[in-house]
Amino acid sequence: CGIVGYIGARQAQDVLVSGLSKLEYRGYDSAGVAIQSGGGIEVRKKAGKLANLAGELAAHPLSGTLGIGHTRWATHGLPNDTNAHPHATEDGKIVIIHNGIIENYLSLKAGLQSRGHVFKSETDSEVLAHLIEEKYGQVGSDLYEAVRLALGEVRGAYGIVVTHADHREIVAARTVSPLVLGVGEGELFLASDVPALLAYTRQVVFLHDGDMVVLGDDGFRITDLAGNALQRSIEQIDWDAEAAEKGGYDTYMLKEIYEQPTALTNTLIGRLNDDNGEVNLDINLDPASFKRISIIACGTAYYAGLVGEYLIEQLARIPVEVDVASEYRYREPIVSEETLAIVISQSGETIDTLEALREAKKYGAKTLGVINAKGSSMTRELDDTLYIHAGPEIGVASTKAYTSMVSAMLMLALWLARARGTLDETRARELLHAARELPRLVEEALAPARVENIKRVAEKYAHSRDYLFLGRGVNAPTALEGALKLKEISYIHAEGYAAGEMKHGPIALIDSDLPVVVVATESRLLEKTISNVQEVRARAGKVIALLSDGDTENAQHADDVIYVPRAHEMVSPVVNAVAMQLLAYFTATALGKDVDKPRNLAKSVTVE
Ligand code: G6P
Repeated sequence: CGIVGYIGARQAQDVLVSGLSKLEYRGYDSAGVAIQSGGGIEVRKKAGKLANLAGELAAHPLSGTLGIGHTRWATHGLPNDTNAHPHATEDGKIVIIHNGIIENYLSLKAGLQSRGHVFKSETDSEVLAHLIEEKYGQVGSDLYEAVRLALGEVRGAYGIVVTHADHREIVAARTVSPLVLGVGEGELFLASDVPALLAYTRQVVFLHDGDMVVLGDDGFRITDLAGNALQRSIEQIDWDAEAAEKGGYDTYMLKEIYEQPTALTNTLIGRLNDDNGEVNLDINLDPASFKRISIIACGTAYYAGLVGEYLIEQLARIPVEVDVASEYRYREPIVSEETLAIVISQSGETIDTLEALREAKKYGAKTLGVINAKGSSMTRELDDTLYIHAGPEIGVASTKAYTSMVSAMLMLALWLARARGTLDETRARELLHAARELPRLVEEALAPARVENIKRVAEKYAHSRDYLFLGRGVNAPTALEGALKLKEISYIHAEGYAAGEMKHGPIALIDSDLPVVVVATESRLLEKTISNVQEVRARAGKVIALLSDGDTENAQHADDVIYVPRAHEMVSPVVNAVAMQLLAYFTATALGKDVDKPRNLAKSVTVE
């Protein structure tokens, strides 16, 4: 979602609409603004594209020089006028915009309702507005203090922007969701992303997790959530508009690789219940009613499906088959009403997957989507959708959507397993804990020294003609995805294989010119994988081993080592995928390829 805020001498309406238009690529199912005007705050919001709101404001302008605006990508509640942001309290005095998810909003809401608060929308954001109102009453009309105390009771991820009819100030705070302060001459701006600010200022302060900021006519101050003043430096942005959309990274792909900790947080948040080992997926299908599962997808999403197969079969003990959509459509699959067909798609538009979904429905399967793009074609035909909330993915080669899909498959496996009684609470909690660790582990996997090491390895082998990728068990698909990433963007021929299958064919290819990437992170089958490494070595192949931190013993068998943070085997495909992405990325850039738009490929393929 996109956020813009303004205080200064200009008409706020113009700044908000222009800023939001630069953020529209982040979300588009509704838009709204709130502007202080004539002693009160006027709120205007509209479902649909920003153009709807802009049209309304052009016809009936709001006059005022302090305002906040938002474009929304729905998480809780339908995309309609009521659920659109900003949200106001009943008396209309406090108005807020909120990105992210409040995990404990139901219990907060129940408390507020018992104390007389009445709610207009289904959103977690409105809960926040009421909570701030309550605190505002308790702290003697200090808006900053009210927001600070309210946030102290909130569990979740947020970028929040608040204003009050009686104060000429904006109070904002962030965790997980980004927020940038723009500093102009006698005016201040806020935005979820730099592109919204560039038309007005290039002086910005990037707020950190846990920062709060107050914007007034006399300047700004930043504190932490405990109220301690903080110093944050003002940075000069010299990016052009396009670079700004890439967040300062050279490419969308690299930006999206680095967005993975946030994307994963958004995939998982509000869905893992550590207290009782359950996952809350809000899916209107009976998980205990299925006798078999068909997973259908294309490309990278298909590999996420293969990881899903391992996870679902191991944890929930239901037979799973995985098909590429173009095969499923025409092979007359065996489907009954007790079949759950799961389609996985970033775009929700891939025609092969869409047609396969229709085919599954025709045979009577229940259908569930694991989808990134809101409101996409598939979501309109599915029985239900588990959104992965990875945010827009622009690079053609999928990165953050993949790791979010794999995490979503883990949650689905847990959901099925718990409902079917195949997984006890202790083991479930252990896996929930492992899943919760993912954003941190991926952040660690992206540490500068690790990225440098992968870049070095990539450059060393960039002129190879072929590449082989091997992995076992839950990481066999990691090898396939590693090979796919490499061929997509570097055009080097690469094959991914189950490590144990190598001896039945690809072993013939091995010579001293062939780099072989072996996923050999901690696992029950590690010893067996290491035997395969020996087989490669015996034939003079070059081994690039992906090892868990601290595994110096197996490092001896490798020409080059890529260490990754230690992770529970069941979640390791997510962490390992990051190393694969970086290896492909730096190989392609070493060869001077256009990674965001590789030749012959399209982001979403809507032809058969
Ligand atoms: C295209 C892209 C792939 C992607 C596949 C499936 O072929 O090039 O990167 O994995 O479509 O896309 P979807 O949007 O359905 O996940």
